[in-house]
Amino acid sequence: MPLTSRNGLPTLGFGLGLRPDHYLAILEDRPRVDWFEAITENYLVPGGKPLDFLDRIRADYPMVMHGVSLSIGSIDPLDLDYLAAVKALASRLEPAWISDHLCWTGVQGVNLHDLLPLPYTEEALAHVVERVCRVQDFLGRRILLENVSSYVAFHDSVITEWDFVAAVCRQADCLLLLDVNNIHVSAFNHGFDPLDYLAAVPGERVQQIHLAGHTDNGDHLVDTHDHPVIDPVWTLYAEAVRRFGFASTMIERDDRIPPLAELVAELDHARAIGAALLGDALLGEASA
Ligand SMILES: [Fe+2]
Repeated sequence: MPLTSRNGLPTLGFGLGLRPDHYLAILEDRPRVDWFEAITENYLVPGGKPLDFLDRIRADYPMVMHGVSLSIGSIDPLDLDYLAAVKALASRLEPAWISDHLCWTGVQGVNLHDLLPLPYTEEALAHVVERVCRVQDFLGRRILLENVSSYVAFHDSVITEWDFVAAVCRQADCLLLLDVNNIHVSAFNHGFDPLDYLAAVPGERVQQIHLAGHTDNGDHLVDTHDHPVIDPVWTLYAEAVRRFGFASTMIERDDRIPPLAELVAELDHARAIGAALLGDALLGEASA
């Protein structure tokens, strides 16, 4: 399978979410990580130490920007001040791409600081597609939207989540940040087959893959990003690579953050899966 760039964007290889706990270790140790994903909101305030660390790490590594407050599904107006700040940060950072989540995070100006699922209806689809198109016009580039995990669903939903995700991507001509752990978590919580999800998403639009751990509460899973990736998620990742080819892959850890070397070792497991499926050329190509 050719390891060409996807959607006209570079193939970055295997990355990690950039966390302040690791700033110094990254600068001192130059770990074997191909790229980092910066949380957009952490760097929107001009000046200060976070931005200084970001610039120094960016000098050595490719980066992408990942936002958590676009609230693309909300019925509130798009926050143009926020988008202007995102655009300004992108001018400084020159990320390979910009992503956020296919969700809503608040309404009537209140940010609930949660990535909430949408009702999967034709009305919501049209609403989201129109807003994604406006965001892409504003930023002057296609964005990636990430599938979120969920614990509840709307009675009003008439479309499956995976068909909704696929329709948004195709109708808005945006790209997909496929979070494999989120699929696993939601599949368990809602009782669907994760392979149905993979079968429906537009594989050619999968530009990036997230891997993460979660918390098992017995009768439901919570997307806590505070544990290593579990075996069923690795298996689902392998299936995604088999179906879609290689998409730049990274591990997210947001709580109980271990030393950097531990995450680099976990990332090597992803590399091994990619190499086993696509050959050693993957490693050379991704690191080039
Ligand atoms: Fe994610």
